[in-house]
Amino acid sequence: MSILIRGGTVVTASDTYQAEILIQGETIAAIGEHLDADGSEVIDASGCYVFPGGIDPHTHLDMPFGGTVTADDFESGTRAAAFGGTTSIIDFCLTNKGQSLREAISIWHEKAKGKASIDYGFHLMIAEANDQVLEELEYVVAEEGIVSLKVFMAYKNVLQADDETLFKTLVRAKELGALVQVHAENGDVIDYLTKKALAEGNTDPIYHALTRPPEAEGEATGRAAALAAMADSQLYVVHVSCAEAVKRIAEAREKGWQVYGETCPQYLALDIHSLEKPDFEGAKYVWSPPLREQWNQEVLWNALRNGILQTVGSDQCSFNFKGQKELGRGDFTKIPNGGPIIEDRFGVVYSEGVHAGRISLNQFVDIISTKSAKLFGMYPRKGTIAIGSDADLVIFDPGATRTLSAKTHHMNVDYNPFEGMKVHGEVVSVLLRGSYVIREKQFVGEAGAGEFVKRAKFTRP
Ligand code: URP
Ligand code: ZN
Ligand code: ZN
Ligand code: ZN
Repeated sequence: MSILIRGGTVVTASDTYQAEILIQGETIAAIGEHLDADGSEVIDASGCYVFPGGIDPHTHLDMPFGGTVTADDFESGTRAAAFGGTTSIIDFCLTNKGQSLREAISIWHEKAKGKASIDYGFHLMIAEANDQVLEELEYVVAEEGIVSLKVFMAYKNVLQADDETLFKTLVRAKELGALVQVHAENGDVIDYLTKKALAEGNTDPIYHALTRPPEAEGEATGRAAALAAMADSQLYVVHVSCAEAVKRIAEAREKGWQVYGETCPQYLALDIHSLEKPDFEGAKYVWSPPLREQWNQEVLWNALRNGILQTVGSDQCSFNFKGQKELGRGDFTKIPNGGPIIEDRFGVVYSEGVHAGRISLNQFVDIISTKSAKLFGMYPRKGTIAIGSDADLVIFDPGATRTLSAKTHHMNVDYNPFEGMKVHGEVVSVLLRGSYVIREKQFVGEAGAGEFVKRAKFTRP
């Protein structure tokens, strides 16, 4: 089976050029002009960009959280991701204290098996850094190819780990060649502020944001960076939402510390005032960290443009408004945190980034695909368009416009946080390892066709 993509503009993190792409089997066999189409299926990509498939470095599918389970599992979540131009995700495998890492990982493999229509990897949560866990990590990195470890500095009494756990994880990650990720918010301060708000009768969704001040994120980000430096290790800060956190990452990078950062479309395009919507609708906009004052958006875009932040993840963590977000009526602390973004990550960053003139086309590819491949051990198999790379490709029409809506999205959830937003550009077709997943805007993929990606040890990108 071979496919020739003709007429498109090939875009990578470094180059933009007219070329044909020949796919043989699952990989790219040739890139050039006047390639031999003999026996190949020809895709006409005239007027379109050909991008490497999007890589979403941050998803939570089929995850128990906040007293419920996310609305999207690996089937609906990866299908929606494909519609949006994403061909690989890295999902967070949760662990419990006392549980073996092997057991936790096998539970996550079961969730994805037979369901994922795009490729996937796992990050592994570290709940405690005891001798057994630190020992088992050798197997996790070497045998499972799971080379990223997540520590939560927030969600007190639920997921939160202490500094000792984070520091020991950083030290061990350095030994093994893994990248440590942190949810950086000061969970102890937030715990105090939320209890105080509830005691004062402040129960509405907006208090979720008001009890998680930007400095709670800035402080934790700076602390994690300092711990990483003391461990001579590498750190990746997930879902950076505000100037205070950007500043800490910039300071760390200026010192030469290996600190990386990710933001999310919601922080780039939405703000805190959404939490004030009437009739409890503000609950749809509850994320941790929370949406911030609007001026932070340009700080985040600048940080992406200047390389202080490297990636945009969706932090896909969907809950229906009806029956799930509603659990928090009368008590904002019971609103499940998170939202449905996996499908619109690629499109919102293209439209608000490239179309709006904030980032270049090549920066877009870097942010949406290449840097995640490099930081998380998938490059150059994924994250670029090169001979020998997986033929994970997106054919994208930059001239199209569309309106984001729950009525037309493919996520298994009853609202879209970007409802009514006009975006420029549209995904036309998506190939995963040389096979169509989306063909002319129709899903033609297969649950179970997505493969688990064993990733290579961390190297400085
Ligand atoms: O609100 C969020 N971010 N929910 C998902 C879990 C997490 O903290 O990433
Ligand atoms: Zn988080
Ligand atoms: Zn304001
Ligand atoms: Zn998350």
